[in-house]
Amino acid sequence: MTKTDWRIGVAGLGTVGAGLLNFLSERPDFAPAGGRASVTGVSARSRSRPRPFDISNLPWFDDPVALAASPDNDLFVELIGGSDGPAKAAVEAALNLGKPVVTANKALIAEHGAELAALAEAKGAPLLFEAAVMGGTPAVKMVREALVGDEVKSVAGILNGTCNYILTEMEAGGRAFADVLAEAQRLGYAEADPTMDVGGFDAAHKISILAALAFGCAPHYAAAEIEGIDQVALLDIQLAKDLGYKIKLIASADRSPEGVLVRVHPSLVAQNHPLAQAGGALNALFIESARVGRIFVQGPGAGSGPTAAAVAADIADVMTGAQRPVFQKPATTLSPFTPVDPAKSMSRAYLRFLVKDEPGVIAAVSETLAEAGVSIESFLQKPVENAEGVPIVLTTHAVAESVLTTAIDRIAGLPAVLERPRLLRIARI
Ligand code: HSE
Repeated sequence: MTKTDWRIGVAGLGTVGAGLLNFLSERPDFAPAGGRASVTGVSARSRSRPRPFDISNLPWFDDPVALAASPDNDLFVELIGGSDGPAKAAVEAALNLGKPVVTANKALIAEHGAELAALAEAKGAPLLFEAAVMGGTPAVKMVREALVGDEVKSVAGILNGTCNYILTEMEAGGRAFADVLAEAQRLGYAEADPTMDVGGFDAAHKISILAALAFGCAPHYAAAEIEGIDQVALLDIQLAKDLGYKIKLIASADRSPEGVLVRVHPSLVAQNHPLAQAGGALNALFIESARVGRIFVQGPGAGSGPTAAAVAADIADVMTGAQRPVFQKPATTLSPFTPVDPAKSMSRAYLRFLVKDEPGVIAAVSETLAEAGVSIESFLQKPVENAEGVPIVLTTHAVAESVLTTAIDRIAGLPAVLERPRLLRIARI
């Protein structure tokens, strides 16, 4: 007999939990297959913290693991966050009982997705995580389900709204990173500890999940190459603009015969590319596939309402009885993740040097690049008043990362070069 009343346990009552409780109280009958979803238990770090909704009538659990295991709910929603600790223990407790789990936890799925998928599939329990990537904007189901008849070659996106907001504000207001970050924290847009966001780790979790879904491999967060935006200088944003680019935190996953390369870097994106036009806190995703071709989606990647909508879509899937492998294929048949050595990866690059304003400096820099095998594509010198030196900027043709690093090391040693050259990649999209 089809189940009609779904009792839901929700662990974690932050922004997303609040959005979900509000939504389910207003629309308990939202699922397309019919039936009703109601919250029958909650758990969070603090019971007494002021919240924009009343939880006094809901059964309270101090321990999320006890909530996950409680016979008073049939579906467990994990919104605690964090790759280990209570979130993982609670998800495992629910799955061990064969109970469906919906989570927004990107760190958990990126770091433990393969083992959790194996557990979920062995127990016949769905494990769904649409909200883990791009919040309310469809990404997970699109890659895992809608594109399963295609062959994805690469996925590149702006997957962290905080970084996109900061970079957009730096450019628009001509302001430094630290200044914009401090303001974003004051306004509550950025976390008090912004490391996960500005360090690129949140975006790396998300792209690791998309790589697994797109390429049929196990997620392997540890293989991701990660650089955040904290070292992005306003000067680079302005010089990149003069060259026709915007700087975005690009998270990308590329498949080649050698394996998969997952990276997060502040990167130059041509101003007319759709990814360059996703401003503010928006998220955006650009996919290239063999048959469909180029796909672009853009939308909110965080926030109470949008992220809760993605959680609700997963709840609807469970209520509908739709069940498929957690990743693209059953956990037992996922290909091992073969990382490509980043030193061998080819990309075009942006290099900024601060040099003494004296004869022969440009010749010395370009000779060193030529000796190392780096071919210059464009060149820009901009006098800056009262500066200690003169910034010179160039872009290169595609070159292996190892060659570029050797050239940069040599240039850093030239007497007329005043600081270590700044390297930014030009996105391969
Ligand atoms: N903190 C993330 C962001 C949202 O700024 O995009 C949740 O992953």
